[in-house]
Amino acid sequence: MKSRSMCVCFAAFCFAAVTWAAPEESQSLSQIVAKLGSLPRVTETPHRMADSTAALCKIVYNTNIHEGAGDPAYCHVHVTENAKTTLLSGEGSYPVGTVIVKAKLENEKSREATLYTVMRKREAGYDAEHGDWEYAVLDGRTKRIQSRGRIDSCMDCHQQYESTDFVTRAYLKSR
Ligand code: HEC
Repeated sequence: MKSRSMCVCFAAFCFAAVTWAAPEESQSLSQIVAKLGSLPRVTETPHRMADSTAALCKIVYNTNIHEGAGDPAYCHVHVTENAKTTLLSGEGSYPVGTVIVKAKLENEKSREATLYTVMRKREAGYDAEHGDWEYAVLDGRTKRIQSRGRIDSCMDCHQQYESTDFVTRAYLKSR
């Protein structure tokens, strides 16, 4: 009887250890995006995206029926609390578990995003050559993941920002 209860205790401990480990990673990207309001936002006003980014977004995402036709596009950027200092300073590399979300807006006044693009810092070795970032695209309305992983088209462009750990910081007023 005693050993049985010890077994139960051990199982409970294991369960707790697994669910408590790396909370950011155990949360799905859809959940994070659904509660975006709870993540610090680093853009005071919507940032006007560079035309080339907006155009490229269109080519990449032309299958998305929620995509707005309006150009130029705007965006807001949110980051997890653990990485706010790194993003604002542009110094050092981002801690594992960092999630950066770019919410693409159809125009300056939109309150709803048409699309979310996400970068999540994974464990060392996930993709060492490209800073161990996982990229993802989520639908604006349903918050469902459309694609995620080591997405070549994302990495190709973000490669030029290697000196700031592949993060552009283009929307910050003081860079
Ligand atoms: C043509 C170049 C280009 C491509 C391709 C591209 N990005 Fe970006 N990305 C940018 C630029 C420029 C910004 C800064 C905001 C802006 O002006 O759009 C940015 C910002 C971001 C940010 C905010 C963090 C940061 O780096 O400042 C995320 C997250 C992001 N992109 C994810 C993605 C994902 C996911 C993909 C692939 C589906 C992707 N990007 C493809 C150029 C690109």
